[in-house]
Amino acid sequence: MDGNTIKKFVRERYAGIARQGTSCCGPEASCGCGGETESGSRKIGYSSEEVDAVPPGADLGLGCGNPVALASLRKGDVVLDLGSGAGFDCFLAARAVGPEGKVIGVDMTPDMIEKARGNAEKGGYGNVEFRLGEIENLPAADRSVDAVLSNCVINLSPDKEKVFSEAYRVLKPGGRVMISDIVLVRELPEAVAGSMAAYAGCVAGAIRKEEYLRLMEEAGFRDVRVVQESGSDIAAGEAAGSIMSMTTFGVKPSSVPGGECCAPKSGNVSPCCGGGSPSKAVIRYEDTFVDGQVETPAGPVPRVHSRIGRRDVLGRWKVRWGIGRDGYRVAPGLYALGAPDGNAPVLVSANYKLTFDVVRRDVAGLDAWILVLDTRGINVWCAAGEGTFGTGEVVRRVTEAQLAEVVIHRRLVLPQLGAPGVAAHEVRKGCGFSVEYGPVRARDIRSFLDAGMKASPAMRRVAFPTMDRIVLTPVEITGFLRPAGWAAAVLFLLAGIGPGIFSLGAAWERGFAGVAALTAGILAGAVVTPVLLPWLPGRAFSVKGGLAGGALAACAVVWQRGSLDAPAALALLLAMTAVSSFVAMNFTGATPFTSPSGVEKEMRRALPVQAGLTVLAGLLWVGGAILR
Ligand SMILES: C[S@@+](CC[C@H](N)C(=O)[O-])C[C@H]1O[C@@H](n2cnc3c(N)ncnc32)[C@H](O)[C@@H]1O
Repeated sequence: MDGNTIKKFVRERYAGIARQGTSCCGPEASCGCGGETESGSRKIGYSSEEVDAVPPGADLGLGCGNPVALASLRKGDVVLDLGSGAGFDCFLAARAVGPEGKVIGVDMTPDMIEKARGNAEKGGYGNVEFRLGEIENLPAADRSVDAVLSNCVINLSPDKEKVFSEAYRVLKPGGRVMISDIVLVRELPEAVAGSMAAYAGCVAGAIRKEEYLRLMEEAGFRDVRVVQESGSDIAAGEAAGSIMSMTTFGVKPSSVPGGECCAPKSGNVSPCCGGGSPSKAVIRYEDTFVDGQVETPAGPVPRVHSRIGRRDVLGRWKVRWGIGRDGYRVAPGLYALGAPDGNAPVLVSANYKLTFDVVRRDVAGLDAWILVLDTRGINVWCAAGEGTFGTGEVVRRVTEAQLAEVVIHRRLVLPQLGAPGVAAHEVRKGCGFSVEYGPVRARDIRSFLDAGMKASPAMRRVAFPTMDRIVLTPVEITGFLRPAGWAAAVLFLLAGIGPGIFSLGAAWERGFAGVAALTAGILAGAVVTPVLLPWLPGRAFSVKGGLAGGALAACAVVWQRGSLDAPAALALLLAMTAVSSFVAMNFTGATPFTSPSGVEKEMRRALPVQAGLTVLAGLLWVGGAILR
């Protein structure tokens, strides 16, 4: 299928839909065709209020997500909608940007443009304009829009690479894209892949998710991420389940004043544009820690306060128990604490909400900037090990926040534990900011700043006190709940094996004893070992855990000596030692003392021993019962 033929076919199909006024009445499918337009739109993420707010006929049920809801549009923004159809998303965006903003819809189908213009007139939209044109050659000036939206259109383009590079071109530095589209989950059946009707129906032109994200990155977008994914019922028959709907986000990096380029080049297009208008931080007023904004030469920056409220405490408690742990994040970017000015220090932190809360709480009263890196929701120490608290991310965030316009100095204060991930000289080369490694703990930041950015040896000392270890134990326990459940089921099964092949009574009675030993082994590794960590002999956590589990098992054997025979007692001893050793080894990830390579080495040595002890314990337990 050549590009021009495809476009001609697609244009004819959507012209027909524009004339008919609905996506689903024609003999052949179109994007979003899945029933009533309005209920279909609710299904893909529009509220009833949104559906009712646009002029009748604007919602043709052609979308596959709600990019407007997720685009964080602000009053005054200029927005461009790629493939605007009858204008549904444009009208919603128009409400968000207000009369001081502007929305431009671009579509290649004259009938759609005519319909959209009619809808704009019906609805009295003075800030929406529809332009006839192709999304591969956008009728818009370079660096003229704040946000690019698109809904179920790019899959229809035979030249997706060009579409992304055009979106990049028209965006101002710091501008963002929010795209809902159809992507492939698996290869389409041949007949569908070659069908023009399936192409126009948003199925055959879809590409794999990974390729889609790669094309966005190659166009120069940064912070590219999937915001939402869901199944799609557009494809039926043989192709059902081959596609899904995906909403993605990306940012065009800001330029650095003076033309110096910080951001890495990617593909053919350089993200370094130089001299664009100031970018604005994405203001997230819905976050309870944000209480306003601070105006800066680079645009408004969200202002946070130092109070830790009930929601923060509840959130902390939940993540301590492993509930919603992965999503406990703050949006990366620049935040203002208090009333910082151009001389205020810039504290760099991770976007794990617990880390962020500790920083804003511990520097209460200070006027500072907090630059939050996207560490994928993990703390500074772990992120430094994984490279997300790293040189590239620091440079990227400094650039995107246009920090050089916000502060006069050129210094960043990084937490000491972030040092393994960041090469200070590379950061300076990348964006002109020098790196000062601050204290290990946020509570020492004020003293560090008061001392002229000098850290005392005590501030640099890495400690892991008892309380810090105790608070980590709940998540250690919850991490083992699922495997423990499976292990318990196996134990009940094994417990029933005996001289009479299988006895339910024995399964019940001995099964409980086995599960009790398993539980004790987990607690020995997940609680006793962390609490007694400095006092348990040995360096390896597996050894410390093994000793704790073994000692606990020995106490249990003595206590139960009347009811345990020798094989069962030995089995208990070996099993608890192995389980506790394994669970304790897991705790290495929580400490600031062990390196990833050290952990790997320990695992290579300890795992075979732990597995051997477990097998031996199982044989003794089952064998002892059979021979009894
Ligand atoms: C599935 S509809 C989506 C319409 C709209 N975004 C919505 O959600 O209601 C696809 C629209 O994109 C337009 N379109 C498809 N390919 C295009 C291209 N290469 N350039 C411009 N518009 C295009 C079609 O004319 C059609 O109006």
